Amino acid sequence: MQKITITTPDDWHLHFRDGDILNETVPATARCFARAIVMPNLVPAVTNAKLALAYKQRILDAVPEGSQFQPLMTLFLTNDMTPQDIVDAKTAGVVAAKLYPAGATTNSAAAVKGIEAMHPVFAEMEKQGLLLLIHGEVTESHIDIFDREKVFIDQYLRKIVADFPTLKVVFEHITTSDAAQFVKESSENVAATITPQHLMLNRNDLLVGGVKPHNYCLPVLKRSTHQQALREAVASGSSKFFLGTDSAPHAKHAKESACGCAGCYSAWSALELYTQVFDELDALDKLEGFASFHGADFYGLPRNTGTVTLEKQDWQVPESLTLPSGDPIVPFYAGQTVSWKIA
Ligand code: DOR
Ligand code: ZN
Repeated sequence: MQKITITTPDDWHLHFRDGDILNETVPATARCFARAIVMPNLVPAVTNAKLALAYKQRILDAVPEGSQFQPLMTLFLTNDMTPQDIVDAKTAGVVAAKLYPAGATTNSAAAVKGIEAMHPVFAEMEKQGLLLLIHGEVTESHIDIFDREKVFIDQYLRKIVADFPTLKVVFEHITTSDAAQFVKESSENVAATITPQHLMLNRNDLLVGGVKPHNYCLPVLKRSTHQQALREAVASGSSKFFLGTDSAPHAKHAKESACGCAGCYSAWSALELYTQVFDELDALDKLEGFASFHGADFYGLPRNTGTVTLEKQDWQVPESLTLPSGDPIVPFYAGQTVSWKIA
């Protein structure tokens, strides 16, 4: 196939950040996605309806003229949260809340310690129909970083899903065959997002021939058997898996550092890279479900009505972009050739 037209897709997981950088991140996503689930790990974090609404307005202010792009807002769960915060969030149009185990990733120090203590909040989310989005990694220092997702499933996720059977849970940016298997075996209320980097890369791409800081994200890339399982999951066409880029900008100096930040800024190439992956898998007929239908259906939101056309044509991701601050940023897949292009 040389050309494919799909219903306008949505990005069910990304990081826009805040302030000036919105003038970079929001147009990059609005170029091809109609909606995006906006992660709340700002500093300070988006922990209540008022903060979410103010943040939403700052995002809307950065949407390019003529674009209908809509941000979908989320709350950052903390141990201080009450069921009333969930009621208020629902009233304000917030669609989901994100569970980060404290310290699991960027800007998560203030997040949840002791997941059991959150059960009254989860119960209210279940009642209000707010989705629970989970960064599924344990943070205990003795657990090997490559095992943290699998241990999280066994220690926490099975119990959350069993205790709140009608709570909709998105296992975010899954990276292992264990996670794909867990999602497949779980009820229809459990789904997962998958990033372009976890479909395209494995830990060799991070560590062989020198450390590649721009391929460092969390959960960290795993061995190729896990990458293969994720590719099989998306190629299966299962409605439990959908597009979530986890596009997460960090300036070049913050990535190329003695203690480099986690995150791949993929917004400028993600849809094209997903298309490339589905093409490699001989599964282009499954792309539209993954990119445009499964997420909307799971969230209970209408499917988009427009279309996006991609053509098989090589182009190169720029080596570097300049953020509104003047700092350079190295986008995901920088300098490399992508084989599909938005027409
Ligand atoms: O790689 C990541 N970057 N993973 C996350 O969970 C957070 C994100 C960020 O905010 O930079
Ligand atoms: Zn993320």
